[in-house]
Amino acid sequence: MKAREIQEKFLHFFAEHDHLIVPQISLVPENDPTLLFTSAGMVAFKPYFLGLEKPPHPRLVNIQRCLRTTDIDRVGQNARTLSFFEMLGSWSIGDYFKEEAISLAWRFLTEVLDFAPDKLWATYFASDSEYPQIPPDQESAGFWQAVGMDRGHIVGLGHKDNFWRAGNVGPCGPSTEVYLDRGRSFGCGKKNCRPGCDCDRFLEIWNAGVFMQYNQTLKGEYEPLPFNSVDTGAGLERLAMVLQKKDSVFATDLFAPLIDKITSLSKPVNGQVKNEARLVNLIADHVRASTFLIADDVLPANQEQGYILRRLIRRAIDAGDKISLIGLEGLASTVVEGYQFAYPYLFDKKKRIEEVLSDEEERYRKAISRGRKEIDLVIKAGPAQTKTKITDPVIGTGSGSKRIISGKEVFYFTQTFGLPPELVKEEFRKRGLVLSKMIDREFVAAQKEHQQKSRSDKKFRGGLANDSGRVVAYHTATHLLHQALRQVLGDHVRQTGSNITSKRLRFDFTHSQALTEEEKAKIEKIINQQIEADLPVSFEEMPLSRAQKKGALAFFADRYQQDEVRVYKIGDFSKEVCGGPHLKRIGKMGRFSIIKEQSVGSGKRRIYGILI
Ligand code: SER
Repeated sequence: MKAREIQEKFLHFFAEHDHLIVPQISLVPENDPTLLFTSAGMVAFKPYFLGLEKPPHPRLVNIQRCLRTTDIDRVGQNARTLSFFEMLGSWSIGDYFKEEAISLAWRFLTEVLDFAPDKLWATYFASDSEYPQIPPDQESAGFWQAVGMDRGHIVGLGHKDNFWRAGNVGPCGPSTEVYLDRGRSFGCGKKNCRPGCDCDRFLEIWNAGVFMQYNQTLKGEYEPLPFNSVDTGAGLERLAMVLQKKDSVFATDLFAPLIDKITSLSKPVNGQVKNEARLVNLIADHVRASTFLIADDVLPANQEQGYILRRLIRRAIDAGDKISLIGLEGLASTVVEGYQFAYPYLFDKKKRIEEVLSDEEERYRKAISRGRKEIDLVIKAGPAQTKTKITDPVIGTGSGSKRIISGKEVFYFTQTFGLPPELVKEEFRKRGLVLSKMIDREFVAAQKEHQQKSRSDKKFRGGLANDSGRVVAYHTATHLLHQALRQVLGDHVRQTGSNITSKRLRFDFTHSQALTEEEKAKIEKIINQQIEADLPVSFEEMPLSRAQKKGALAFFADRYQQDEVRVYKIGDFSKEVCGGPHLKRIGKMGRFSIIKEQSVGSGKRRIYGILI
């Protein structure tokens, strides 16, 4: 069964059971500062689970392009880890719960996809001593048995396997998952081998239901949601793998043309490259992910989404070099051709995608050659008079060929020149230097130290294009707008997102009707009065709980990882928890005017505003 047939059957089955087919969202979630990428279909629906917005229908279904970065280092190492994947998802928002979710899952798997019932197993949340506050799921096992699953195939597991949420916070709950028994030949042979075992025998094919019951706060508390919901998800690639009877997702029809293209364009010397197939798979995954990221307007950069894109492209280039693959941009067209039927927008972006890939390759090659020169300099200078910018400690210890390179130095080169650690180590090795035995551990320690140092700088970047003067002025203006909206429309207004460039601000908020001309004029007037009064901007640091008690707006409270937050005040007009850059006074920011106001989904409005 071709992957797109699986998709069709899935959408059709759930649509027949009264689920509304909804469009997918971008890989970069617009209004969710807690997530870098859309990591599951449910990301788009978080406000529904939380009861903040009303869904267009209580039952939804779709296919969603997703990106997960946690396992990026394992891509290519095994048959099924991917960064980008497509998720088939279905949802009940405050509608049916466990029993119907399980019954739908069972019917879809056994009647539509024709899985043999005796090959299917299910897991459920059986309790976890580390999470005593979450009660065990005492119903799902019974519901699985009732639909016809063998009692011996129903396994209770802990939080790690059967509790799900996207990121660190938000709607979450215990899950029930379906596994396919691929047979003894895939297994470890242990007597108690079953779902949850590390071997390859039992393969999870469907998260048949996250039973959304809680909202996890940043403090790790589980607050009950206003109503129960169900969130299901299945990786299309994995279903294709088992239904096409392949051993690897890379052997499915979703990947075959790309793998063939990579193989035909590369020529490992006499087949002597170790793990050639792994490299090919890694390139295929990373090029596919990069193609979709660029199509969703992500550009290579040193932070956030752009950093992940840069890493994917550069890792693919490294792997490509090992098998003499020339240029990645030629591969993007194969991805576009394979996916443009399902994702028509790819076609228009093809040229752009190729340009971005080839520009990034050029930049990377230049960085490599600069890095190599710097490594030469460091070696020439010797440990005593090192010319690198590493402040501590000096490069290596010992002298001459006995100098030992530590993970800290390797980290410096990866950080400064964007070089992969493997390449840096190789360059040192080639020049006769000895690598520390603890190099990987030292590298990770240096990386952690660096992350800690930069965490506070990075705390706030949400929605800002950069921190130029205009951008700062626009960001400051969002505080004014937020407060003015609440004064004119009411306290139900909450910011759900913002996006700032040096030319305009965009501000999303909850409100259910279009703004009248009168309301818009009032909002502008209030803001401009504050600007004319040239109010000063000040901030105070305090624990988040105190800030909230003092009435500071803190709708993105979840984003603030530390206990101490900054409360920014603009005169006595606005008080808001924020970590961003602000003007010191607002008198010179210009006159504010609303240039557009529109709906962005039910219960949500968007304002575009400029300062002139
Ligand atoms: N959100 C759940 C998951 O990703 C179900 O889709 O597994």
